[in-house]
Amino acid sequence: MAGQIITIAQQKGGSGKTTLAAHLAVAWSRKRGTAVALLDTDPQGSLGEWFENREDRFGEDWAGLTFRTASGWGARREARSMGRNHDLVVIDTPPKSDLDARPAIECANLVVIPIQPSPVDLWATQSTIDLAAKEGAASLLILNRVPPRASLTAEMIEAMGDFESVLAKSRLGNRVAFAGAMGDGLTVMEMSGAKKAADEVEALATEVRKRAKG
Ligand SMILES: Nc1ncnc2c1ncn2[C@@H]1O[C@H](COP(=O)(O)OP(=O)(O)OP(=O)(O)O)[C@@H](O)[C@H]1O
Ligand SMILES: [Mg+2]
Repeated sequence: MAGQIITIAQQKGGSGKTTLAAHLAVAWSRKRGTAVALLDTDPQGSLGEWFENREDRFGEDWAGLTFRTASGWGARREARSMGRNHDLVVIDTPPKSDLDARPAIECANLVVIPIQPSPVDLWATQSTIDLAAKEGAASLLILNRVPPRASLTAEMIEAMGDFESVLAKSRLGNRVAFAGAMGDGLTVMEMSGAKKAADEVEALATEVRKRAKG
């Protein structure tokens, strides 16, 4: 059976796509017997830098995750090819234009859309949801960088009721550990003193995987 393809997309820059791609992939790869591949389709190459730092740390023979890059429609072929020998393929996509993410959205079982709780981010989200719907892919919104106390977050959640997309129960808080971990080629699950962040990722990874199975 082909592996599940999970595409992280959101045209708004800096919403947490790359952070989420790395964290979900590592969280799943830590489950016994789960082969996970990461595909970077963003020419910025941030995920590749993270992966290189990771290799420096764990050694190139470290086989926890497969990493590839692809551009344009090559992304679809690469994702499907990796889906033949991996249980899960996670695709990171570029910001700015949803069209650049289209090949990755077209082949996805689930499109995960990170969104920061601010009106500007909310406005940017509709087109990504629409594109996923047009391509027949289910989508899941994930609140990222949620501040500890926020009436705005509650207002946002209400406004999101208008979207034809499900909002994940699990969210990620605004925590410096995420930036620190990524810079070192790690995830918050592999850092000391980041238990809250790690628990959030684990809960999210479980929820997203369930949703991807449909
Ligand atoms: N939950 C979080 N808490 C704190 N900082 C975060 C969180 N998620 C992401 N960040 C930070 O926000 C910035 C943008 O994150 P990231 O690069 O993952 O977003 P992106 O959507 O991939 O950006 P781009 O659109 O440029 O590809 C980074 O500095 C990252 O460390
Ligand atoms: Mg990115």
